[in-house]
Amino acid sequence: MPDFDLLIRGGTVATAVDTFDADIAISGGRVAALGTNLGTADRTIDAGGMLVLPGGIDAHCHIEQESSTNIMTADDFYSGSVSAAFGGNTTFLPFAAQHRGQSLREVVKTAHERAGPKSVIDYAFHLIVSDPTESVLGQELPSLIHEGYTSFKVYLTYEMLKISDRQMLDVLSLARTHGAMTMVHAENDDVISWLSERLLTRGHVEPKFHAVAHAQIAESEASRRAIDLARLVDARLLIVHVSAPEAAQAILNARNKGLPIYGETCPQYLFLTMDDLDRDGMEGAKFCCSPPPRDKAGQDAIWLGLTNGTFQVFSSDHAPYRYDESGKFNAGPNPTFKKIANGVPGLETRMPLLFSEGVGKGRLSLNEFVALTSTNAAKIYGLHPRKGTIAIGADADIAIWDPEWQRTISQTMLHDAMDYTPYEGREVTGWPRMVISRGRVIVEDEKLNAERGSGTFLERQPDTENGTGLSTASPIAPDRIFGAELS
Ligand code: URP
Ligand code: ZN
Ligand code: ZN
Repeated sequence: MPDFDLLIRGGTVATAVDTFDADIAISGGRVAALGTNLGTADRTIDAGGMLVLPGGIDAHCHIEQESSTNIMTADDFYSGSVSAAFGGNTTFLPFAAQHRGQSLREVVKTAHERAGPKSVIDYAFHLIVSDPTESVLGQELPSLIHEGYTSFKVYLTYEMLKISDRQMLDVLSLARTHGAMTMVHAENDDVISWLSERLLTRGHVEPKFHAVAHAQIAESEASRRAIDLARLVDARLLIVHVSAPEAAQAILNARNKGLPIYGETCPQYLFLTMDDLDRDGMEGAKFCCSPPPRDKAGQDAIWLGLTNGTFQVFSSDHAPYRYDESGKFNAGPNPTFKKIANGVPGLETRMPLLFSEGVGKGRLSLNEFVALTSTNAAKIYGLHPRKGTIAIGADADIAIWDPEWQRTISQTMLHDAMDYTPYEGREVTGWPRMVISRGRVIVEDEKLNAERGSGTFLERQPDTENGTGLSTASPIAPDRIFGAELS
């Protein structure tokens, strides 16, 4: 009888801290041994010339979710999880989203009904809290946190989602008490609506004005405010999808003071700019997301933030609205920028883009890449050490990367339910050849080999220590690294 179920032989293994040559033996869905001459297995994979990395964790994606204006995402849990798997992910964290008047418990029940029979990779849910009523704060949220839903997102903008500063304080202090992580969409709603009104009355309606209305100051002001509110009640806070350099600076300043503040950014802020919103006709609608992509200097600042301790998490914010009346043009043809569904897809391209432009071009080390795309999310959201690393006893969630594989991104090669990718025609080097989830080879030879519903729900533990295992202070970052004017 063979010693193990699966052996991955001859590859270069990288975690968030180490890179070493080793074979990996897997039994019962977990890593059983690391080393050489480990023994025999039912199946042996030759990983010579390959990088053997922890499976990606996409910690921010919208799957089978209705927006606040009732638009359903194009991806359900099948197409979304399949697309994620082909991009090297073995875990994702979509949202169970509360709309005003809804009970959080109902929302969670619906999310399970949608994900359970369909997802091919493992998943946990962040909650979205848009209606922090007495019963939500007093009963539903505390009990859900203790049942494993230990993170939730709140919005400071969007008419139907935004909460007030007072409600934000309620939510943050509840999270502090019960050991949850608050995630915030930080944009100042009044600034955006004030600017939008002026633009629209002057006839500035095209997609490119979305980026003008969602000014950088709207983002940086709300980020600083959210950080201050978290400081007031000593709560952990993660600012999601950061695109503005001053917002990044605010996160770095807070972290340098030792505060438990965390930052996330996304591919659209490294690989797109506001010029993309100014493409011909309505094409710019494909790039409307909030916050919007900024300019080239903004891109550079976000790249810097990936290595100077500002950002711990690199997520897709996959928000798949098709370029048709089911998605971007749900409000009718030729909508003003205000009526275009917000969001861009990116589940499958998140890791290859960062690998190619980050590791391939020498901006990131391989270990930083692993930390940003997998390990840090596992630590911050309570999945580590089961997920996010390659270690004895951890789930055998592994992506076997071919660092030389050159591909030209096009929508036809992707597996989501979208009709466009913002990265059409972009050339990348490096893509996973094989993806393994709990010891099952789910992607091989560009084919899926996973049953619908074979992914599993991941219950998480609240963190009553108010920490994440990630040190807050950044050892290398001077206070004003994003520019002297940004104190
Ligand atoms: O434009 C975006 N990011 N849409 C998705 C929803 C959100 O706020 O993350
Ligand atoms: Zn958001
Ligand atoms: Zn989002």
